[in-house]
Amino acid sequence: MSTSFANRLNGSILLISSMFFGLAHGVAPKALIDDGGMVASRSALATEVGAQILADGGNAIDAAVATGFALAVTYPSAGNLGGGGFMVIHLADGTVIANDHRERAPGAASKDMFLDEEGQLVKGLSTASHLAVGVPGTVAGLLDVLARYGRLDRKRVMQPAIDLAAKGFVLDRDLAAQFARRQDVFAKHPASVAVFTNEGAPYRMGELFVQTDLANTLRRIQKHGKAGFYEGETADLLVAEMQRGGGLISHQDLLGYQSSWREPIRGTYRGHEIVSMPPPSSGGILLVQMLNMLEPYDIASMGYGSAQSIHLMIEAERRAYADRAEHLGDADFYPVPIKELISKEYATKRFANFDAKRASISADIGAGEIPAESLETTHASVMDKDGNAVAYTTTLNLSYGAKMVVAGAGFLLNNEMDDFSAKENSPNAFGLIGRKANAIEPGKRMLSSMTPTIVRKDGKPLLVTGSPGGSTIITTTLQVVMNVIDHGMSLSDAVSSPRFHHQWQPDRVMHETYAFSPDTQALLESMGHKQLIAIPAFYGGGIGDANSVMHIDQGFQGMADPRNAGAAMGPGRAQRSAQ
Ligand code: DON
Repeated sequence: MSTSFANRLNGSILLISSMFFGLAHGVAPKALIDDGGMVASRSALATEVGAQILADGGNAIDAAVATGFALAVTYPSAGNLGGGGFMVIHLADGTVIANDHRERAPGAASKDMFLDEEGQLVKGLSTASHLAVGVPGTVAGLLDVLARYGRLDRKRVMQPAIDLAAKGFVLDRDLAAQFARRQDVFAKHPASVAVFTNEGAPYRMGELFVQTDLANTLRRIQKHGKAGFYEGETADLLVAEMQRGGGLISHQDLLGYQSSWREPIRGTYRGHEIVSMPPPSSGGILLVQMLNMLEPYDIASMGYGSAQSIHLMIEAERRAYADRAEHLGDADFYPVPIKELISKEYATKRFANFDAKRASISADIGAGEIPAESLETTHASVMDKDGNAVAYTTTLNLSYGAKMVVAGAGFLLNNEMDDFSAKENSPNAFGLIGRKANAIEPGKRMLSSMTPTIVRKDGKPLLVTGSPGGSTIITTTLQVVMNVIDHGMSLSDAVSSPRFHHQWQPDRVMHETYAFSPDTQALLESMGHKQLIAIPAFYGGGIGDANSVMHIDQGFQGMADPRNAGAAMGPGRAQRSAQ
């Protein structure tokens, strides 16, 4: 392995562990039960907004959209107006549908835009420059979802976010520490300094955080709908920001942006239905593919945390992520073989060389042969009493995206262009590699790992889950789903239990410190698993942040991931706190 590649790997371990580092505050999240519905998200304030919408007669879609806009105010590292996301929706009548509001490459983007004259990647260009920014999709997506399936109007659903931005909220330790840690990177952008410092000095816990420009942008969207973002003053400010720093997004790109309605990926696992995100996410396909490979094995008898079950899961992950690198990209631009990848037959073939006693070597695992056919994100889960459910994952890509606030408009821009494969077989910030399927093309959406997922039993939503964590999103979601289905865990155990992750390349197993007992670790090593790397899973660290909701006999149970400072709340609690 070359030194620079090794450095890159170490860098991405650091990135993944540091993405989750944040000093948590308040009480540890507990699983809550409410018979009127439930919202779980990374921000207690945004969760409360969603729960209040449910209490006021809104449905899960209204609550998810209101939570989404609130996250752009109260959790700015990932909640956003200047990024993108995915929403998977189950409607009470049984319909499932997904909204894709992933960012797109600007019209002037080109395949080699992040390479120098020698064809080498220019460090930082795809993550920390105006070129890193994809055309934002969040505002189009949230408003399209609301218009189609919401019960309340835009005015009501957006007002809490506007109030939080205009009147401000008191900074907790978590957010104040996040802003303080990033003073250096914000320093390059005066508009970012203006938002994330208190007149030049670091914000401290307990201070009021007011975002006047953001409130005005939200008001324009509330008044004019999508035109309040993609046209007029907001669009002018965004394009001016691009022109200041040599970015590519034009008025044309903004006007041309549309969210896409997509058929979710659907699979089955031990009598449950898995409904998840299709391309441009890799999440749904990989989740179903891995579950298909694992279904023939009696994971429940092997037991949670057994070397045998971990070995099986690593081997499924290794093969699925190898396929991701070769076959997955935006299906509007590249013929992704979706049907094959999620079929049980393909999983059987792909897993035929699994050896129950021996780890395979990633370098020997190419992509499966398929005939040509055509550090930061956040996840929220919502269910309502009428039987609707929403899984919503949204991101600016890395924490605070490009760290660049649009001057005068008060919102951060994403650095999602790094999720494209800027150069064949060269790892992105998450160590993920890709090829032609995920090459940059104008208007194309970059491949994502975001996996908003709804598990249904007898046609009804049982579990809503998903996570941030870059490449670890898909394996985090896999583990929450398996913990519930295979191990019969309660939601709190399913979300809290230690996690591990393998992504084919690099050939290593990342795991939370207590995921492998010493004898399990010894067994895995004796099978040939190399590079078992422990990641501290203390409060504010670890792999993933799966804020989830589950339907149980007593009502709806919400569980904010104890690794971070999120919260779950139902309308009952929201009503009490509003009184
Ligand atoms: O879409 C993706 O897969 C990435 N942009 C997600 C980034 C992420 O999860 C960072 N956070 N923890």
